[in-house]
Amino acid sequence: TYVVTDNCIACKYTDCVEVCPVDCFYEGENTLVIHPDECIDCGVCEPECPADAIRPDTEPDMEDWVEFNRKYSEIWPVIISKKEPLPGHEEKDGEPNKLEKYFS
Ligand code: SF4
Ligand code: F3S
Repeated sequence: TYVVTDNCIACKYTDCVEVCPVDCFYEGENTLVIHPDECIDCGVCEPECPADAIRPDTEPDMEDWVEFNRKYSEIWPVIISKKEPLPGHEEKDGEPNKLEKYFS
């Protein structure tokens, strides 16, 4: 599966949702997640993210992000259309530890 990781938080560009063939992105207030069981591993969303926040779970240390994506994809509503990124996304793009700073 692919998963959404830290740098989506507080940016939420949403370019990713337009290309997913199975509509498996889910939207929270300040980040998106991918449903790991619905993702078909096509990889087309990865290069679409301006924040480089979408990663394959084959990369090291992805277990916590897979669990994060799984947990919230079962709670949040699906998103299939692009919308405006969050205010302040330019400044926050690339900041470290956004989960701790901005997610509650
Ligand atoms: Fe959707 Fe493909 Fe991205 Fe999975 S890898 S979330 S199926 S676009
Ligand atoms: Fe987030 Fe990137 Fe999509 S910032 S909303 S994963 S395009």
